[in-house]
Amino acid sequence: MLNKEQEALLAGLLAEQKYINPKYFYDKNGSELFERITQLDEYYPTRTERTILIQNAEEMASYFDKSAVIIEPGAGACEKIQLILEAIHPEAYLPQDVSKRFLQQAAQTIKDKFPWLKVYPIVSDFAKPIEIPKEFRNKPSYVFYPGSTIGNFEPESAVSFLKNMRQLVGDDGGILLGADLHKEPAVIEAAYNDTHGVTAKFNLNMLSNVNRQLGSAIDASKFSHRAFYNEKLHRIEMHLVSMQQQAYFVDGKQIDFKAGETIHTENSYKFSLEDIDKMAQGSGFQRIKTWTDKDGYFSLNFFRASLA
Ligand code: TRP
Repeated sequence: MLNKEQEALLAGLLAEQKYINPKYFYDKNGSELFERITQLDEYYPTRTERTILIQNAEEMASYFDKSAVIIEPGAGACEKIQLILEAIHPEAYLPQDVSKRFLQQAAQTIKDKFPWLKVYPIVSDFAKPIEIPKEFRNKPSYVFYPGSTIGNFEPESAVSFLKNMRQLVGDDGGILLGADLHKEPAVIEAAYNDTHGVTAKFNLNMLSNVNRQLGSAIDASKFSHRAFYNEKLHRIEMHLVSMQQQAYFVDGKQIDFKAGETIHTENSYKFSLEDIDKMAQGSGFQRIKTWTDKDGYFSLNFFRASLA
């Protein structure tokens, strides 16, 4: 008998265009591989975003109210916020994540480094809406959502997510949102096809996680990594390509692969400022300021809640 999550995972492998939910990237090995990706020369997003945050911290801070409460969904190691905390000097920081141990450890690090700050970690998963503790509910709240994770949603889901954030922060709040920008496809494709093969390992590692989840025996050595920029949809698509015809059995069902058939593992949408404005408007925000790097590769955007 499979549980709900296993059912959903298997359904993706039986679909016409096979897919795996990107959350399966991030087991222990996958998280370490992603950390290595962020340090690759070709992977511009992380380092570019860090530079933008460091260079503009003071100016960004001027958009936040003095008694600000900052909420960070999927905060992980809470690394990026540290680049702007001193400048913003909010009253409280509420990092949210699914992993309790990881989050509490990160929260403690923040408390030690910023002793003046109230830190309230929120352990919850995506299914459960984030709740602001009572004592902060009448303070201006802001969401910090760096890393262009917004680009990993389908466009409609990105807007739904932002609508939820709009509800969370209320009429006086805002959001500081990271978004990767349109650029020459070659630069984007190199970022997702590094010469050291770390990205390939990261993508393929998903299969060992899937095997653990499903008790299956999918042979990762019979798949290869493929990432290409879809110019029409402005997104990089990640796939695992079956290098031969093969079949696996899970829960009495047969998963067939033709040679060359792919499993779609993630999309990473790239944005124009017009796209970002549309997202803001569609979700009850207004983009009032954008910071970018000298090449115009990446952006941080301050949205203020707009009144309907
Ligand atoms: N969310 C990351 C991104 O969109 C994930 C990522 C980086 C990724 N490199 C990858 C996913 C390679 C699959 C393969 O940038």
